[in-house]
Formats: sequence, structure tokens, C-alpha cells
Amino acid sequence: MVVVQVNVVGSGRNAERNAGLSVLTNPNDAAIEALRSAVNVAPENQALVQQLIKLLIELLKYEEAEHIARTALQHHPGSVVLQLCLADVYFRQGKDSHALAIVETLALGKDADPRAMVMHARLLQRTGDLRGAVATYKEAVDRDDEVADSDLESLLGIADLGTQDSELESDFDEPVPEFADHMAEETEDELSLLSERPEENFESVGGMQNVKDEIRVKIIYPLQHADMYAAYGKKVGGGILLYGPPGCGKTHLARATAGEVNSAFLSVGISDVLSMWLGSSEKNLNAVFQQARESRPCVLFFDEVDALGASRADMKRTAGRHLINQFLSELDGVEADNEGVLCLAATNTPWHLDTAFRRPGRFDRVIFVPPPDESARQEILKLQLQGKPTDSVDVRKLAAKTADYSGADLKAVVDCAVEAKLHEAVKLGIPKPINTKDLLKAAKQVRPTTREWFSAARNHALYANEGGIYDDILDYLKIKR
Ligand SMILES: Nc1ncnc2c1ncn2[C@@H]1O[C@H](COP(=O)(O)OP(=O)(O)O)[C@@H](O)[C@H]1O
Ligand SMILES: [Mg+2]
Repeated sequence: MVVVQVNVVGSGRNAERNAGLSVLTNPNDAAIEALRSAVNVAPENQALVQQLIKLLIELLKYEEAEHIARTALQHHPGSVVLQLCLADVYFRQGKDSHALAIVETLALGKDADPRAMVMHARLLQRTGDLRGAVATYKEAVDRDDEVADSDLESLLGIADLGTQDSELESDFDEPVPEFADHMAEETEDELSLLSERPEENFESVGGMQNVKDEIRVKIIYPLQHADMYAAYGKKVGGGILLYGPPGCGKTHLARATAGEVNSAFLSVGISDVLSMWLGSSEKNLNAVFQQARESRPCVLFFDEVDALGASRADMKRTAGRHLINQFLSELDGVEADNEGVLCLAATNTPWHLDTAFRRPGRFDRVIFVPPPDESARQEILKLQLQGKPTDSVDVRKLAAKTADYSGADLKAVVDCAVEAKLHEAVKLGIPKPINTKDLLKAAKQVRPTTREWFSAARNHALYANEGGIYDDILDYLKIKR
């Protein structure tokens, strides 16, 4: 038995590449014992250690596996294989953040390890980020098809895709049938966005003083004082990328920016991006930018821009590649001819955005939109209660009790209280104003949603913080840097 194990170990690259991912048959205690003693004698022998960990995992002895992996890593701190073993053990124990911390550093960048990427995809899948998981998995298989994993594929709902290049390619190049009719229309006429004139302005946005200031300096003043900027030889251009947990007012703020400067507002949403993808229609993208230039002054807003700019490697052989490249060149074109076009973009997952988007002249200002602090929560609550029948509501008390609530959560609290009150009014036949107690009760029913985002963001900020791009997250979490 042991001889067989050692043979597998000895098969070199393949055995190594499958570390932690495949399972041996018929493990038994004798084999474990033999490996244990072997590892005791030669703790620096990575192949032996790896094999022992595999067997331990198979026997669900995770704690011992973890201990062995960690000890071995002290001998070989840089060993990718051992790190992957440890991540695998963590993953199986449900210690996802530990696993993520290891895997992410190995799974990022152009030298990313495909095995680490597959593990990363598993972790993403478990956190519910299916899109990220699929993208990461596909890129891994693209780099090395030997890491393909059919179990994971079925978890990701891409089992029928297979891993053949040609199949993957056709998946993206042809319009999905059910969209085909819709597409035919879309590709004939160019995509035309609804041009709005939002009534909201910065006063409709609670808190966010820093973000508002930054938008003023970076895009509003240059628009209003173009001559002055020119006189001082100050280059204008480039856009702002807003990122942060969902529901904290990114989209709201973008609309309010248009209202603030009294300009048109063109929003490219996720469904527009999808139709561009399905139609592989770069013409549409060009039309969008053209429309923006014709509507100036105008705020051109790319909502959930990560849908458009997800890691380009993943789209290498798809229509998406052209779309992204064209998007980037249109952005550069806006810079050349940007008078009156203010570019804003928002994303909840900046780490999925291709770094090319952040080059000078593109979205070169990246701003963190945090959850509202206490005074911002007071403002948001006041805004949300405006025009509703209320009775001496103590927003300070409510704001104090709603730490970690996003703006959208606070809106939900108010909606919930309104609903309950309406219910009561209908029953009693007498309308009654909303009071503090109603709102406090409603707040108990609405869970804050921002914490979850931070648990993912934290890892990116800690382990993929190139150029300090996520320093704001670290500061927010009070993590020293
Ligand atoms: N700072 C804020 N001031 C006022 N309302 C807010 C604020 N943040 C969020 N909201 C409310 O929550 C809703 C959802 O916010 P949204 O802008 O869609 O969040 P995001 O784009 O960051 O996911 C908004 O439509 C608005 O009603
Ligand atoms: Mg939004």
C-alpha cells in the first residue's frame, strides 16, 4: 500500500498539480501510520507531507492535516503546493477567510497559479459570488486545462459547457437563443439610452461629504470653469470610480451629480452591457459615447461597471475582449474630446475590474463610498421621512441604533414602518403619524447588509492592495497599514 502511495508521489508534476484536489482510493491506517513516521523522519520532504495530508483529508482528520501542513510550511514557507494543501484543509473545515487569505495572493496577477484559481473559484462560489467564481474558474482552465473540475463546474452551473476551447468560444460568440429576437432589434437600431434630467442634487444625498467634495473638484469645477483650468494649463479629464458596499448610495449619488450641475444623465446599466455582449455589438458602445457627446453637458454613468470590465483574461477569446478594448479607447476618446462629458462609474466589486480602467485619463480617481456614519444616517433618515406623516421622530436615537445599516437598509426601515402604520390605519379607519417607536421596531426587522461586503473586501484590502488602492477599506476597518 505504502509503496503505491510513494509511487504516486514520485510521479512528479502531475502528483503535485493535483495536491489537495484529488483523492486516493482505499486509504488505511497502516498507510497513514507509515506516512506519519516517514514525515516524522523527514519533515522537509514535501511530497511525503503532501501525501499524508491527502490521506488525512480523506479520513476527515482535518485538525491533524492542518497541523502537518502548517509545520511543513515552516520548513518551506514559499511552497505553493503546501500553501494550497493548507488552503484546502481550511476550506474543508469551513474556515473560508483563512483559505481565502492564502489563495488570493496565489490566484491574482499574471503569474497566478491555476490550481489556486480553482480554489479561489470554490471560495467565491461559497460566498455566493457566482459570476466571480465562473470567471475565475474559466481563466484557470484556460491557463491549464488539467485543473478542470467537473464537480465545481456543476456547482457553478456550467457543467454542460465542457472545457473544450471551441465550446467555450461558441458560448459567447453566438447570441443565446432566447435573447435572439430581442437581439435582432437591438443590433439593427443602435442602443439608445434614456436621457434623464434628475431632480435630485447633492442635498438629496445624506452624508458623503468627502465624496461630494471630490466630485466637485474633479469633475464639476472643471466643467463650470473650463476657461480657468485652461488658463492655468491644468489638464481636465478622467473619470471617477465609486466603490463600496451595495446600497450605500453610489447610483443615487451619480444621479444627484447630474442634478447638481443641471445636466443630462445617461446611465449604462447592467442590462445594456448584457445586450452589448449578446450582440457583440461594439457599435452600441460607440453609440453610447456618441450620444453622451451630443447631450453635453452630461453625466455618463456606468453602473456596475465590473460587468463590463471583468478581468480581460477571462474574455480572451470572447466577444467581450473587443468590447473592453473598445470601451477603453472610447474612454480615451472622451478625454481627447471630453468637454462637458463627466464620466462616473460604480461597482461593488472593484477587484473584478481590469486595472486598465484605472489608468490616467480613465477612471483614475477611485473613491470609497462607505456605509453612512451616525450623522449621515440621521440625514438619510430625515430625507427618507420627508413628505411622510410623522410625529416628533427622534432620528438621533434611531441613527444611534442602526450602525452598519446602508442607506438602502434605512430606506427599508422607513418603508417597513410606513407599511405597518398603513395597515393599522386601514384597520382602525384613522390615519396615524409614524413615531420613533414604530421606526425602532421596524429597524429590528431589517438586518444591516454591509458587514457581509466587508468580510470579502477585507481580504482584498489586506492581500491585493496594490498601490494602496484599498487603504480606505483598511482605515474604515481600523486595520493598521
Ligand atoms: N447617502 C444617501 N442619501 C440618501 N439616500 C440614500 C443614500 N444612500 C442610499 N440611499 C437610498 O438607498 C437607495 C439605494 O442606494 P443606491 O444608490 O442604489 O446604492 P448603490 O448604488 O451603492 O448600491 C437609494 O435609491 C436611496 O434611496
Ligand atoms: Mg447601484
